[in-house]
Amino acid sequence: MNNRLTLGIETSCDETAAAIYASSAGVLSSNIYSQREHAKYGGVVPEQSSRSHIEKINSIVQGALDQANVNLDDIDTVAVTNKPGLSGSLLVGLSFAKAIAYAKNKKLVGVNHLEGHLFSPFLENPNIPFPHIALTVSGGHTSIYLVTGMGQYQTLGTTMDDAAGEAFDKIARMLGFDYPGGPDIERLAKQAGFVDYFNYPRPHSKTLDFSFSGLKTAVMYDMVKRGMYDMQSKKLLPGTDPKLIEQVASSLLVCITDLFATKLKTALKAYPEVQAITFAGGVACNKYITKVLKAFCTKRGRSFFVPSRKYCTDNAAMIAYVGNFKAEQGKFDSIDLDIFV
Ligand code: KG4
Ligand code: ZN
Repeated sequence: MNNRLTLGIETSCDETAAAIYASSAGVLSSNIYSQREHAKYGGVVPEQSSRSHIEKINSIVQGALDQANVNLDDIDTVAVTNKPGLSGSLLVGLSFAKAIAYAKNKKLVGVNHLEGHLFSPFLENPNIPFPHIALTVSGGHTSIYLVTGMGQYQTLGTTMDDAAGEAFDKIARMLGFDYPGGPDIERLAKQAGFVDYFNYPRPHSKTLDFSFSGLKTAVMYDMVKRGMYDMQSKKLLPGTDPKLIEQVASSLLVCITDLFATKLKTALKAYPEVQAITFAGGVACNKYITKVLKAFCTKRGRSFFVPSRKYCTDNAAMIAYVGNFKAEQGKFDSIDLDIFV
């Protein structure tokens, strides 16, 4: 088949997204609705999320088809995120995808959301060399992989507790900011000049696994010590000097960036043949981290790839992309495909 059209559907968390990918021309459309209603709760409320997906999915899929100037009859494959994620949310996308596949007699492909992030740098850079090291960091996951081919990879390390994005979100909440807090941490850190004021502890593990919950606790106790935070009410104390808030954000960002660089150094030592490093997921929107990691790669003679912002955060273009190469490999799923949370 010389021009395969794939409809991608993503509803694993708080984005309802659909995209059309053409094997001959790349992304034809990428349509996203981001649920804003969770901001005040400090994290995604699962029941609210699935209800919102139900309300939006029809218009988001139709919008993706319209923007690509195609209709359902033109589509060859329906690719849908079926793991991991919030169960109620995943079921909305999967049921919708199955209904299309069944009614229109289309092929169905289940896509792992993490594989979506892992291969998202290829949407804009199809010639990233193999093998490469991929660091994927978002609100729900932090992992480092050795990628040897399309759909072929090995997990070298992953978080033992919180994801890095979750650490940004939780600490931003302690600093008085709504969910998602990562962009606020970056903005505050910039105001403080990206300086490491408080030297938060870096775990000394020699493995490629990550751990962020200790860091979160260390920051909280440091904020209590500086008279900024009340543990009982779990609130920032009124009258806290805004400069101090910026300094906490700056120290946190530098600390987490350092942790990433240390892990990449360990990975390159173990796999010196690797010529490139990719960085993806919502946290890869962070300009400071990408600047530091790019310099890290340049210094070591490795190329560095990061998707543009629209493909870092959750989107369906990455799901359609993985769905397309799975279809090329003949890896289809049956209509009784289930979710895995
Ligand atoms: O990939 P994504 O949209 O959703 C998940 O799969 O989790 O990532 C969302 C995460 C949130 O934790 C958010 O705070 C973080 O990405 N994030 C950032 C930035 N922009 C988004 N973290 C740090 N700096 C940013 N500029
Ligand atoms: Zn994600």
